[in-house]
Amino acid sequence: MAMAMKTLVFVCVLVAAMALGAPMAEAQLGGLISGLLGLIKIQGTLFCSFDGNMGANGTATPVFPNALVQLQCGGSVVSSSTTNGNGIFSILLDPMQFLVPSLLNNCNLAVKTPLSNCNASLPSVGALFSNLQLVGNTLIGLLNITNIVPVGFGLLRP
Ligand SMILES: *[C@@H]1O[C@H](CO)[C@@H](O)[C@H](O)[C@H]1NC(C)=O
Ligand SMILES: *[C@@H]1O[C@H](CO)[C@@H](O)[C@H](O)[C@H]1NC(C)=O
Ligand SMILES: *[C@@H]1O[C@H](CO)[C@@H](O)[C@H](O)[C@H]1NC(C)=O
Repeated sequence: MAMAMKTLVFVCVLVAAMALGAPMAEAQLGGLISGLLGLIKIQGTLFCSFDGNMGANGTATPVFPNALVQLQCGGSVVSSSTTNGNGIFSILLDPMQFLVPSLLNNCNLAVKTPLSNCNASLPSVGALFSNLQLVGNTLIGLLNITNIVPVGFGLLRP
């Protein structure tokens, strides 16, 4: 009996809250739906070279597999990815949590695995960093994907 009463009170409070918050709930729902149909993708290929980029003769540059790539914003790590056997990393973000202009301005990619892991004659200290750039949107069905790529990596020595 007490339990049923509590449930009833809870439902009443919930209904009242929904009625009061209706305009906000609708706006949130709109944002939620566009957010659900959108995705931010940060993708790139890491190469096993002094600067992590493809050399002048691209096909001749080996890739950097199993490298930990972090997305850092204002110095904190917000996401990460490990490069696959083809040196490709891919980070997917929810557009409801990240604004593209702010990503481009405040975030960068940092490679935490030393270059010496892919080639012993490359530096074992320092880390590769790259800023981000927007390359456009891809529509896959209803899904609107915002494509972001590294501008180009560079080695920062401590
Ligand atoms: C790129 O390849 C061309 C033709 O094979 C060669 O002449 C050139 O020296 C190479 N450049 C570099 C940076 O390896
Ligand atoms: C390793 O790096 C050195 C220095 O950049 C380069 O000369 C050599 O070709 C690289 N080795 C491989 C297997 O890529
Ligand atoms: C996809 O999203 C971008 C950025 O939010 C927007 O400018 C573009 O119009 C969208 N494309 C479609 C087809 O909805």
